[in-house]
Amino acid sequence: MNILVLGSGGREHAISWKLSQSPECDNLFIAPGNAGTTELGTNVPVNPNDFNAIEKLIMAEDIDMVVIGPEEPLVRGIYEHLRAVNSFSDLMIIGPTQRGAMLEGSKVWAKDFMQKNNIPTARYGKFSAGQTDKAKKFLKTLNPPYVLKADGLAAGKGVLILKDINEAVFALGEMFGGKFGDAGKNVVIEEFLDGIEVSVFILTDGSSYVLFPEAKDYKRIGEGDTGLNTGGMGAVSPVPFATPEFIEKVEDRIIIPTLQGLYNGDIGYCGFLYFGLMNVNGDPYVVEYNVRLGDPEAEVVLPRVESDFAALLAAAARGTLSKESMTVNPSTVVTVMLVSGGYPQVYQKGKEITVEQITGDALLFHAGTITDGKKVVTNGGRVLAVSAYGKDMNDALKKAYRQAEHIAFDRKYYRKDIGFDLA
Ligand code: AMP
Ligand code: GLY
Repeated sequence: MNILVLGSGGREHAISWKLSQSPECDNLFIAPGNAGTTELGTNVPVNPNDFNAIEKLIMAEDIDMVVIGPEEPLVRGIYEHLRAVNSFSDLMIIGPTQRGAMLEGSKVWAKDFMQKNNIPTARYGKFSAGQTDKAKKFLKTLNPPYVLKADGLAAGKGVLILKDINEAVFALGEMFGGKFGDAGKNVVIEEFLDGIEVSVFILTDGSSYVLFPEAKDYKRIGEGDTGLNTGGMGAVSPVPFATPEFIEKVEDRIIIPTLQGLYNGDIGYCGFLYFGLMNVNGDPYVVEYNVRLGDPEAEVVLPRVESDFAALLAAAARGTLSKESMTVNPSTVVTVMLVSGGYPQVYQKGKEITVEQITGDALLFHAGTITDGKKVVTNGGRVLAVSAYGKDMNDALKKAYRQAEHIAFDRKYYRKDIGFDLA
């Protein structure tokens, strides 16, 4: 198969790395990719949101399968665009339809979907600009802290958690006033769920699914989960509290009803589905859906997958996933994200990266890097995900941190406490 992966982050490097191990993968293309993916296939400088350019690329390289890494092209309807091309009738597309992508693209839509399908989630109200009084009344029925969510895609910044009702009312005014652009024209206000988060991933063909290993990510920039939100500063898999009993509840109460809801709604879905969950006293609640793999979760989940990844994806595209199963490596894998100093605010790009050596059991996934063929330089806030295998979390962390010390670039920063709450 000729496979095209869309995206440029650590997740796409990990996807490409896993695909390249498959005997079914003949030629691998990554658009646009990063310095890491050049070692696995051919980078093509095409933006995943430029559907016409993607279409031309698929034709030119005789692509059999396209794997869409990030959510934005999915929410914008890349599936429908490619499906409408007559000569692409056999093209395998790993990513949902635009309606399926609404699970991530609209918080209001996702909450209504969960309510309709009896999927456990926080109690909520939905309000549009102009309904400030109604929204305030609803806020007063909740206990603090208050959770406000801008409806549309907001690059991970559209969720606010506020301790005080006056702060919440002020933030609501800002959302309605356009702070998040159109994404904030509609707002979900919901009950705060007090628990511990875990992410569960499946690959589905729309009826069957295979369950991937679960993971936990660390979103805040500072140690002890403090400071600004980031795209993710590290992750671990497995997650000790995600016991088989807990995962069984997730399958029965959340995964199966979600797939049934998509099916009943005639919503086509072939691809990854990410369940962001809160474990509240042993019971799972959905905090969010994402219509893709997580980043940096992919950098710990995919290293644990032993099954042939390209074969699994092909089975999803062909609708034969019920015949497949997943073999998982029982080791623990952790990842530590090395970021540019100043991220997630102002930071510089173009700093040369040197890797002294790769130590045993470590894997490097590039996130924000670029190469001119000679040197590799930083090209984003999140620069490199340093993953490592271990017999347990502490062993894996020791190896990842040791590897992190062998990598240098100006103003390198990373959290030294990944997994701190699980030890
Ligand atoms: P989301 O973009 O929906 O994942 O929200 C971002 C983060 O906000 C989540 O990862 C949680 O840490 C937190 N969060 C969102 N909704 C809730 C909730 N109802 N209760 C507690 N925390 C929440
Ligand atoms: N790590 C969170 C996400 O990918 O959305």
